[in-house]
Amino acid sequence: MTVSSAPGKVYLFGEHAVVYGEPAVPCAVERRATVTVSLRDDDHVRVRAEDLSLNGFTVEYSGSTGDRPDVNVPAPLVEAAMGYIDAAVEQARDAADAPDAGFDITVESDIPLGAGLGSSAAVVVAGIDAATRELGVELSPREIADRAYKAEYEVQDGQASRADTFCSAMGGAVRVEGDDCRTIDAPALPFVIGFDGGAGDTGALVSGVRDLREQYDFAADTVSTIGDIVRRGEALLADADPDADPEEALLDELGRFMNFNHGLLEALGVSSRSLDSMVWAAREAGAYGAKLTGAGGGGCIVALDPTPETQTGLRFTPGCEDAFRAELATEGVRLEEPPTNADSTAGDDSVEESS
Ligand code: MEV
Repeated sequence: MTVSSAPGKVYLFGEHAVVYGEPAVPCAVERRATVTVSLRDDDHVRVRAEDLSLNGFTVEYSGSTGDRPDVNVPAPLVEAAMGYIDAAVEQARDAADAPDAGFDITVESDIPLGAGLGSSAAVVVAGIDAATRELGVELSPREIADRAYKAEYEVQDGQASRADTFCSAMGGAVRVEGDDCRTIDAPALPFVIGFDGGAGDTGALVSGVRDLREQYDFAADTVSTIGDIVRRGEALLADADPDADPEEALLDELGRFMNFNHGLLEALGVSSRSLDSMVWAAREAGAYGAKLTGAGGGGCIVALDPTPETQTGLRFTPGCEDAFRAELATEGVRLEEPPTNADSTAGDDSVEESS
């Protein structure tokens, strides 16, 4: 049995524009997906997933996710979750040259699904790491990032950047521009996250921006202006001392750029009433800046505030289901201790219950 985990992320700047070759700066945050993999003696793959905002489901299939679980949750979310796990299994089989390997897989995650915190990337990254290790192959975080990107690219019909998967595999703050992926230094930024309890359809949102960009020059300009903001933002980070608490002047200017970035994403049609109202609640509570994070349409916003005010303000905001502080996750994908015997017996019971 092998257990691996990988963090979720917030976008400080640059989602959507990164799909068109502009730079983006996502930051890994301490909310993790944990994937437990045990090799089977046949070629079947049995998946048990809990805490994915899906009520938990179990499905057994051989080789593909053609068999869908019969559960009372939105089909697109289940399809998406199963598609990512399936793609991770294929990458692991390929990396270990073991096309017929079968696995029992358990996915646990405290990252809400489809909410802009990189849940799918974290599941794919941790899944590839655990499954390849279980087959006796140890990949570097960069190799895992590359394979996880291929998996996401396939599931998202070629509409994925390397940003989410690279960030989850490497941890910390990263900069992604096309195929050029680097880790960068950043101070521990005081992230506060607001979650509306919903999710966006990444594929549809990315397609919507693509159509706008093709149809209108001003939409294409909006996308490249996001790239300009990212370049200005990363220059600020490069000048900051990564080991010291961020200075007020830095937070002030990063916050201003985040506000600008949110306005441009709103103009591109990927915000929503609940995301906008959480962004405004955060600003009114005194956050330095706030923006949606990820594909948008619903899900999460990220704000900068070292005080408790934004979290409290968000908790009283209609449409906000949860608000929490998120530390920068300096570690990306990592091997975890397998559960003790007593833990795994408890796990077996709940497989039966959730199937
Ligand atoms: C989704 O988390 C981020 C997007 O930029 C898509 C991508 O980069 O693959 C919207």
